[in-house]
Amino acid sequence: MQTLIELDRVTFRYPDQEKPALQDVSLSIAAGEWVAIVGHNGSGKSTLTKLFNGLLLPEQGTVTVASRYSSAVEEEIWEMRRAIGIVFQNPDNQFVGTTVRDDVAFSLENWGVPREEMVRRIDDSLARVGLTEFVEREPHQLSGGQKQRVAIASAIAMRPEVLVLDEATSMLDPLARREVMSTVQELYENNPMAVVAITHELDEVLAASRVIVMEAGRIVLEGTPLEVFKEASFLKGIGLDVPFVIRMQELLKDRGMDLGETIVDERKLVNRICQS
Ligand SMILES: Nc1ncnc2c1ncn2[C@@H]1O[C@H](COP(=O)(O)OP(=O)(O)OP(=O)(O)O)[C@@H](O)[C@H]1O
Ligand SMILES: [Mg+2]
Repeated sequence: MQTLIELDRVTFRYPDQEKPALQDVSLSIAAGEWVAIVGHNGSGKSTLTKLFNGLLLPEQGTVTVASRYSSAVEEEIWEMRRAIGIVFQNPDNQFVGTTVRDDVAFSLENWGVPREEMVRRIDDSLARVGLTEFVEREPHQLSGGQKQRVAIASAIAMRPEVLVLDEATSMLDPLARREVMSTVQELYENNPMAVVAITHELDEVLAASRVIVMEAGRIVLEGTPLEVFKEASFLKGIGLDVPFVIRMQELLKDRGMDLGETIVDERKLVNRICQS
């Protein structure tokens, strides 16, 4: 699989800060992956995503995107921005246009995408997030979930190689959260791109193909959800939760009911318990 994001020993420090926000971080993300990034507040997750697309530049080390754009080459930083679409946390801080259409058009215009192509991409992106009939709406007429879906439409209109969600669902109610996640899931299944989701929601972490755990500016653990959540006491030690479905199996094991291989799907766990 093609490598879409590659960080090689990246260290980053904010101006006038003694301690680096990221220290010696190496990672690579390939096409087709869904990577969840978890970590306590201030562990460096958002800083990491801003390095992915050149919003921040490394003090040491290199960031390479799509195997061809490097943070070390000024002209290529713009290509990094296009290749990595980021959706942030606050639905109200992301609108740049006065209507949904203007918002999705904004980056396309900046990139000088020809008019006809622009219209095609706006229609296509809004259809993909299920907001075709909202094209003339103003931001204040939208719900939080709809605003985040517009932000996703704006990101995918640029045809990014990676869609990054930086706690994009954390300000939404459970229903809107599900609506946004199923939109992302559908895009992921139907497009050749990777998804990187920073999240505190454990069910979203369980759905990832790989999990990266950050602590104090470093990657401290990495693997499939199962491999990561097996380290329950380590995770608790750095202030992270373990999903109910995993905790339940630990408690059962303590009481003498060992199910053998760990199950990450709640429904499967119920079935398994009923069979025992
Ligand atoms: N603009 C800034 N100037 C100085 N320090 C900053 C700035 N932004 C973040 N930091 C510091 O860098 C470190 C990493 O912050 P970052 O926002 O990347 O963490 P995070 O894991 O995204 O946290 P959260 O879960 O709260 O979003 C923290 O110590 C934070 O205080
Ligand atoms: Mg953050």
